[in-house]
Amino acid sequence: MNNITGPPVEGDNFYGREPEIDYAWGRISTGNNLILPSPRRVGKTSFALKLLDIAKREGWDTISINLERITSEQAFIERFVEELRKLSWWDQASTQIINFLSLFKQLKPSFKYGDVEMELSWEENKIDIYKQLADILDHRKPTLIFFDELTVLLNVILNADENGKRNVSAFLHWLRSLRIVGRSRIKWIYCSSVGIENFTHQHGISDTMNDISDYRLKSFSHNESIGMLLNLGRSNNLDVTKEIAKDVVGLLDYCLPFFLQIMFDKLNYLVNIENVPIDRKISQYAYAQIITENHFNTWIERIENQYGYQKKYVFALLKLTCQDKSGVSRANLINATTASGLDIDDAEEIVRKLIYMLKNDGYLVEDNGLYRFRSPLLRDFWFERFVR
Ligand SMILES: Nc1ncnc2c1ncn2[C@@H]1O[C@H](COP(=O)(O)OP(=O)(O)O)[C@@H](O)[C@H]1O
Ligand SMILES: [Mg+2]
Repeated sequence: MNNITGPPVEGDNFYGREPEIDYAWGRISTGNNLILPSPRRVGKTSFALKLLDIAKREGWDTISINLERITSEQAFIERFVEELRKLSWWDQASTQIINFLSLFKQLKPSFKYGDVEMELSWEENKIDIYKQLADILDHRKPTLIFFDELTVLLNVILNADENGKRNVSAFLHWLRSLRIVGRSRIKWIYCSSVGIENFTHQHGISDTMNDISDYRLKSFSHNESIGMLLNLGRSNNLDVTKEIAKDVVGLLDYCLPFFLQIMFDKLNYLVNIENVPIDRKISQYAYAQIITENHFNTWIERIENQYGYQKKYVFALLKLTCQDKSGVSRANLINATTASGLDIDDAEEIVRKLIYMLKNDGYLVEDNGLYRFRSPLLRDFWFERFVR
């Protein structure tokens, strides 16, 4: 098992999650679609790829598209068609497909600029394109389609022009119409690091997703985490003892595989580069370094990008919360936002809304009426960055 810290893991590098994979595959193979709405680096893409592997093994067709690199609605359709053409059931000879492609090929490609004669514009033809494309999908063939980072594309569509809101709603309705075809054997997995629920709720289009069940990946149990650290140690010739693995897990408490991987990488670095002895002190040492590094910058950026004008209140709430391991009361959170300039009625309303979003987005959990960081590691990182 390789020590991979960032990109999705596949094959032997995918550790654990057996019951979750069984459960998720069970849901898909009995006719459900799945959305994995978890923060970045929880392990969604790796998990979805594992499900695609199983589907392939069972003889399904599969498609996997990372929407994070798609820059427009048209570019999405181009990419989707490119993938569909590789499928076993894509029949060059079908009249519907011939008609679709003849329209599609006349479109000015999304990556060409300037006037190209004789080519049709996307805007004027997109309704037809969507409609025809929906009609050519063969719903009798088992096919698993994975769209990674769906909400990133939704934001691209939303912000493209003044019709963004209408376009994003139409797009989500179109996707929904593909999912709800009766007895369809096409199944869908979406991943979203950016709260999809927050997105659809904010734009009043939650109904476009109400047919699809979400699954939130779990953190690893302490035993599973110790097992993974020992496994990494064995495969990478680092003498991680059970005691050291337990120390690491004790510090992390909330164990995402990514956290285990970066802790392991740090142990490996300390031992082999800094010549630190591998003993019971090393886990503290590794942890102290990690919280000063940039592994969690995406958690800061997400707030900057997704919370709009409310971000200053979010930073105020989190700054307060990261200072108290046991958690902060709602009243104190409200005080923190009035201190940054809100009047009391607005503060109550905003804190209620932001707590909901921050829980959804994986920052906070609620325990007996107190709010605290879900991950001690993220909390200590936050403290280093914004308080110390
Ligand atoms: N099942 C797993 N086994 C081992 N490491 C994992 C696993 N899932 C995730 N990881 C770790 O998390 C990192 C991010 O995984 P990824 O699937 O890309 O997450 P996401 O798609 O949620 O951002 C990987 O580089 C790896 O370090
Ligand atoms: Mg991913």
